[in-house]
Parts: sequence; C-alpha cells; structure tokens
Amino acid sequence: MIEIQSLHKSFGPLEVLKGIDLTVNKGEVVTIIGGSGSGKSTLLTCINGLEPIASGKVIVDGIEVHAKSTNLNTLRQKIGIVFQQWNAFPHLTVLENVTLAPRKVLGLSKAEAEAIGEKQLSHVGLGAKLSTYPTMLSGGQQQRMAIARALAMSPDYMLFDEVTSALDPQLVGEVLETLKMLAEEGMTMICVTHEMAFARDVSHRVAYFHRGVMAEIGAPEQIFGDPQHEETRKFLASVR
Ligand SMILES: Nc1ncnc2c1ncn2[C@@H]1O[C@H](COP(=O)(O)OP(=O)(O)OP(=O)(O)O)[C@@H](O)[C@H]1O
Ligand SMILES: [Mg+2]
Repeated sequence: MIEIQSLHKSFGPLEVLKGIDLTVNKGEVVTIIGGSGSGKSTLLTCINGLEPIASGKVIVDGIEVHAKSTNLNTLRQKIGIVFQQWNAFPHLTVLENVTLAPRKVLGLSKAEAEAIGEKQLSHVGLGAKLSTYPTMLSGGQQQRMAIARALAMSPDYMLFDEVTSALDPQLVGEVLETLKMLAEEGMTMICVTHEMAFARDVSHRVAYFHRGVMAEIGAPEQIFGDPQHEETRKFLASVR
C-alpha cells in the first residue's frame, strides 16, 4: 500500500505540492488528471524518492520513503516507473535493454534475466521483437518495451506518467490496452494521463489535481458524472 500524508514539495520558492493526502491500496488503479503544472509528475517522483520533499510522509509497504535510513535502491525495485519517453540504449537489442537492470541490479544470471525479459516482452506483445534494435520499433512498441523493462524488475507498484502523450494518435490505443491488461491482472497502479476515456474505464478512483492540491478524488462515475468542484468541472469541459 502507498500512503501519502500531508505531502508538501517546493522547487525553490515555488510550492508545487500543497499538502497531498492519498492512500492507494493493493490492486487499486488510481488515475491522476489535471492541468499542466498542477504537480502530477512531481507527485510520482516523490513516491519513488527521486525528489526530496519539504514535509509530510510517503510510506510504501510501511517504509518511509524519505527517511534517512531508507535504502532507496531497494525501495525502487518495488516501484516501476514509466515516463512519456524512455531513451533505450540504441546499441543493445530490445531483450538486452530489458534484461540490463535485472542483471546489474538484481544480480540475475544472463539466462535467468533472459527468461524474465522474454516473458515480459511477450506479455506486452513484443515476443517477436527480442533481437530487434529499439530504433526499429514504432513509438507504441517502444513504450511497451519500456513497460516490459519496468515489469522485468517484478515491481509491486507501477507509476505511469503520460505514457501515451508523445505518441501518434493511432499508436495510443495499443499502449492503453497494455495498461488495461496490467490493471485487470491486479497490478497496483498510479497513472497520470490526459486520456479521459482510459481514466473513466480503467481506474478505481480518479484524482483531479489543481495547482498543487488534490481538489477532488472519487469513483470515475462521480468525477466524470457529478464533479463536486468548480475547477474539476472547468477542466473536464476543456478536455471534452
Ligand atoms: N526540477 C524542477 N525544478 C523547478 N521547478 C520544477 C521542476 N519540476 C517541476 N517544476 C515545476 O513544478 C510545477 C509542477 O510541475 P509538474 O511537472 O509536477 O506538473 P504536471 O502536473 O506534471 O504538468 P504537465 O501536465 O505539464 O506534465 C510546475 O510549475 C513546474 O514548472
Ligand atoms: Mg507532468
């Protein structure tokens, strides 16, 4: 379980997260929507300890992420993160890119890492692309490779930050289908997205962020059908 308590985060004088409280339970899919600059990406980077925080707590499986005693490398193995774009190593094959971290970080043998890499690449529909080089993949395939790479570390949680927003429209669907599959398998996920249909169909809860505050969180039917905040209504009207 991920517990975020009264989280404050600033960049210099700019307060970017102004007291976020959010608990994400095992198996839950929480989608975060909101305008540009509202703090969505920053929240994800605070969850896996990529960014220091000003105050509050982020607790993952009982471990306080920002405590001095926390081993961030161990913690990050639990939490896979996939961004808008991931620069794969161009001189390594797809399988080599996916097996790199399991070998280097988890210390798996080449054979062990390859077995996991093949399984995860097949899982995201890239079983036929193992020995291809990343530059030969379409944008959607590259994003699915990035997802397979995160899954190869056997994470308990997956964080997705606008994984489809750099893609041509015709490639968005295949990546969203992959996310949907993971959700249906019970992966605990936090997805920042601009894809409202995805948020509505796949999430258990949708959170609306506005200027560093989680203005509203609720079931998708409530957020999309009966938003309680004026800002949520305005935002949804602007993206429809
Ligand atoms: N490393 C940084 N240094 C300084 N300011 C930053 C840094 N990262 C983000 N910010 C600022 O923090 C605020 C929140 O940024 P964040 O990236 O979390 O927004 P976002 O909701 O993800 O927006 P978008 O939808 O455009 O991705 C913005 O005002 C941004 O300029
Ligand atoms: Mg962002």
